[in-house]
Amino acid sequence: MNVSVLRGELASLETPLLAVPVFEGNGADPAVQALDLALGGLIAAVRERGDLRGKEGESVTLYPAGGSVAAQRVLVIGLGKPDSLTPEKLRRAGGTAARQAARARAASVTFALPASSVDSGDAARAVTEGVVLGSYSFTELKSRADDAPAPVELADLAIAVPAEADEAAVAEGARVGSVVASAENFARNLGNLPGNVVTPTRLAEVAGDISTRFGMKLTVLGPREMEAEGMGALLAVARGTDEEPRLIVLEHRGGADGDRPLVLVGKGLTFDAGGISIKPAAGMEEMKFDMCGGAAVLGAMHAIGELGVKANVVGIVPSSENLLGGKAMKPGDIFRAASGKTIEVVNTDAEGRLILADALHYAKRFDPVAMLDAATLTGACVIALGHQASGIMGNDEALLDEVKRAGDRTGERCWPLPMFDEYRDQIKSDYADIKNSGGRPAGTITAAWFLREFVGDTPWVHLDVAGTAYGDGKLAYLSKGSTGAPTRLFVEWVLSRAG
Ligand code: BES
Ligand code: MN
Ligand code: ZN
Repeated sequence: MNVSVLRGELASLETPLLAVPVFEGNGADPAVQALDLALGGLIAAVRERGDLRGKEGESVTLYPAGGSVAAQRVLVIGLGKPDSLTPEKLRRAGGTAARQAARARAASVTFALPASSVDSGDAARAVTEGVVLGSYSFTELKSRADDAPAPVELADLAIAVPAEADEAAVAEGARVGSVVASAENFARNLGNLPGNVVTPTRLAEVAGDISTRFGMKLTVLGPREMEAEGMGALLAVARGTDEEPRLIVLEHRGGADGDRPLVLVGKGLTFDAGGISIKPAAGMEEMKFDMCGGAAVLGAMHAIGELGVKANVVGIVPSSENLLGGKAMKPGDIFRAASGKTIEVVNTDAEGRLILADALHYAKRFDPVAMLDAATLTGACVIALGHQASGIMGNDEALLDEVKRAGDRTGERCWPLPMFDEYRDQIKSDYADIKNSGGRPAGTITAAWFLREFVGDTPWVHLDVAGTAYGDGKLAYLSKGSTGAPTRLFVEWVLSRAG
């Protein structure tokens, strides 16, 4: 997306679509009042007649006549009460603008940034993210009828700023927003592609593209290298499939040589049938999304490379399928993880924690300052929090707080679940050091306890994104399928650490 910043009378802006946010209640922005004067009072009329009161989620398209307004369309978008404006509401407004642009087959859109209490750089970033995310659609595997018109892609966003806004801050916010949201779309696309396309091998190739483009170091472990590392947990999951597993490691060296890195780890399970503890058939196709944590790590590394973030960051994605086969792991089997711990597999469907166990252990060799992981780990998390927040757990209160706040700022919210010591008892095994399922009670927490066994003393936070990594696309800037979460949170956290 080409993003530009401009000033000037809204009425004189030539654009196929001018998006104009308005607030609930009286007292319009002077810039909007001037536009409405040129519109002959159309916006006031729409408000008076109650078609649009300015509530969040409302929008109306106006078609200016008479030539006093240069825009072909004016999209009025409600933002709610002015004192409760948040970046997330602006992100959604950006999404609404992008959707309307798609309907109108417009290749460019101009968004009038409202004067508000939100910092203008943050506002520009949120709007840009919303527009870029809202313009994404997953159509690459659909055929187009011969007589269907070629799709129009939204290519240009102009942000019209109020007179008093800091233009440089707006331009910088828009630049960051565009990079981050494009990277999130990149993650969404990986998530939406099916398991027969995005295999562990393919994920490693995609990481290879990122490493070449941004000059990162790439290390890819295959089965033989995993064998040499003693990664019995990751290899146990891969036993049931003909697709070879991969452990993907990307290193961004943006900081000083000796600086300890930030590490991001993501579950890259490219299809989860459950293994011998097989899942029910209904909805099983959604388990192509079981690599969304890994996709978010790749998306974040993409953005971190493009932004040239001044910090050392390592992205790690353990990747496998979880299928059934004559050699597949069985309930009761015991494997030794790379850390040396033995694991009794009581449920082959609790495979994510197995591949993460070896990845988290591997991460320790980088001596991380802090480590985050994201995984579509438990159905229990969807029951606990639905689709509104990721579960957040960890071993360091300050880091938990820091990551939660990064989530709030980006609209990728997290909510904490307690890691009381007593929960750890549920994964005690009679036959091995630990077992891979603690049963149904507090399933999200016992999964986190399992991971914790492999992180050692590293400050670590785990995000269970089972309910947030994909969805029905009800938000203005999202469509059905992969959301790309937590790409934005990852990047925001890294940026906040990079200073
Ligand atoms: N990938 C699933 C978790 C999942 C479920 C993600 C629903 C998204 C939506 C994971 O591998 C899994 O199967 N977990 C089991 C764990 C159980 C066997 C302890 C679960 O949640 O049922
Ligand atoms: Mn599973
Ligand atoms: Zn899984």
